[in-house]
Amino acid sequence: MLLVLNGPNLNRLGLREPGVYGSQTLEDLERQCESWGAELGTSVTCRQSNYEGQLIEWIHEAQEQGFSGVVINPGALTHYSYALRDAIAGQPLPVIEVHISNVDAREEFRHRSVTAAVCRGKISGLGFLGYRLGMEALVEGQG
Ligand code: DQA
Repeated sequence: MLLVLNGPNLNRLGLREPGVYGSQTLEDLERQCESWGAELGTSVTCRQSNYEGQLIEWIHEAQEQGFSGVVINPGALTHYSYALRDAIAGQPLPVIEVHISNVDAREEFRHRSVTAAVCRGKISGLGFLGYRLGMEALVEGQG
C-alpha cells in the first residue's frame, strides 16, 4: 500500500505554467497513479496539500496507517523545508522524491533539494512518469 503525496501548488496542475508542468490536472495524475498501482499490484492513496504541516503529519502517520512506502513531490518545499526533511528522516518508510519538471535545468534555487538526501532516490524531469517509476522502485524493493 503506497502513499503518493503532492505538495504546494500541485493542485493547480493543468492551469499552472502548462509549458513547464503540462496540461493534465492533479486529478488526472492521481487517477493515473491509481491505475499504475493496480498494474503493479498495490493499492495507492493520493493526497495533496498546500500546507507544510499537513504533509509532515501525513508522513508521521504513514507507517501506522499501513503504508509501505511514500512517493512525494514536495513542490517548492523541496528547496527549503528542513521541517519536511526531518519528518522524512524521522520515520522508517522508504520515500522517493519526484519532480515533474527538470529542476536542474531551471532557476538556481531549484537546484538545491534539502529533502533528497533523506529520500531513497530522486526522479526529476520525466513528467508524470516519475511517479510511476517511484512507485515501481518501492514495489520492487529498490526504494
Ligand atoms: C516541482 C518543482 C519545484 O521547484 C516547484 O516549486 C514545484 C513543482 C516539480 O514537480 O517540478 O512546485 O516540484
